[in-house]
Amino acid sequence: MDVYDAIKGRRTIRRFSGAPVGIRLLTRLVDAARLAPSGGNCQPLEFIAVSKPELVAKLASHVKWAAYIHPAGNPPDGRGPGAFIVTLVNRQIAPDGAPYDVAAAVMTMILAARAEGLGSCWMGNIDRPALAKVLNVPGDGWILDSVLALGIPGESPVTEPLRDSVRYWKDDAGVLHVPKRLLEDILHEETF
Ligand SMILES: Cc1cc2nc3c(=O)[nH]c(=O)nc-3n(C[C@H](O)[C@H](O)[C@H](O)COP(=O)(O)O)c2cc1C
Repeated sequence: MDVYDAIKGRRTIRRFSGAPVGIRLLTRLVDAARLAPSGGNCQPLEFIAVSKPELVAKLASHVKWAAYIHPAGNPPDGRGPGAFIVTLVNRQIAPDGAPYDVAAAVMTMILAARAEGLGSCWMGNIDRPALAKVLNVPGDGWILDSVLALGIPGESPVTEPLRDSVRYWKDDAGVLHVPKRLLEDILHEETF
């Protein structure tokens, strides 16, 4: 898949096929994240790849979906993610977190996932202490930054020009509409 097409066609996916995602595929995504840009090349990130269905279900109970349209954005029963990748920051390397590194790594995984036919939802509205407990992440020394939910897409959200509101919404057919700012509203050519 052409990278530009992958970027333009990507939308956050919150309804999946219900099929599991194998650990080998997750490993490929983390291998891509490993090579993402890193400030000072300090590489403070580590990742937990979770594919076992019972563990995936436990993690899914500690994340919150689509706050603007709650509960309409929750995955229906049996249509939740098939896997999660959890991004951790080593506080010995980055004591206050590493948001740019995380963003570069997670976006890399999102696009790699898309190339593998997977949809994803990057999630920051999560119960970090509960997730850390389920995954045995030591309380000190590590920041549990965010999680990436992954699975075969079970919906096809669309973009629309942003007019009055940034809030995404679902139409009567259940299609998610995502407002995006127009190019002419954000691009300054040559000077401000
Ligand atoms: C840092 C970050 C955290 C996010 N956290 C959540 C979340 O907790 N739950 C959720 O359903 N979506 C979450 N999202 C997805 C956004 O809602 C989504 O990216 C936005 O609505 C735009 O849609 P798009 O990704 O399809 O362009 C998050 C996105 C980012 C970048």
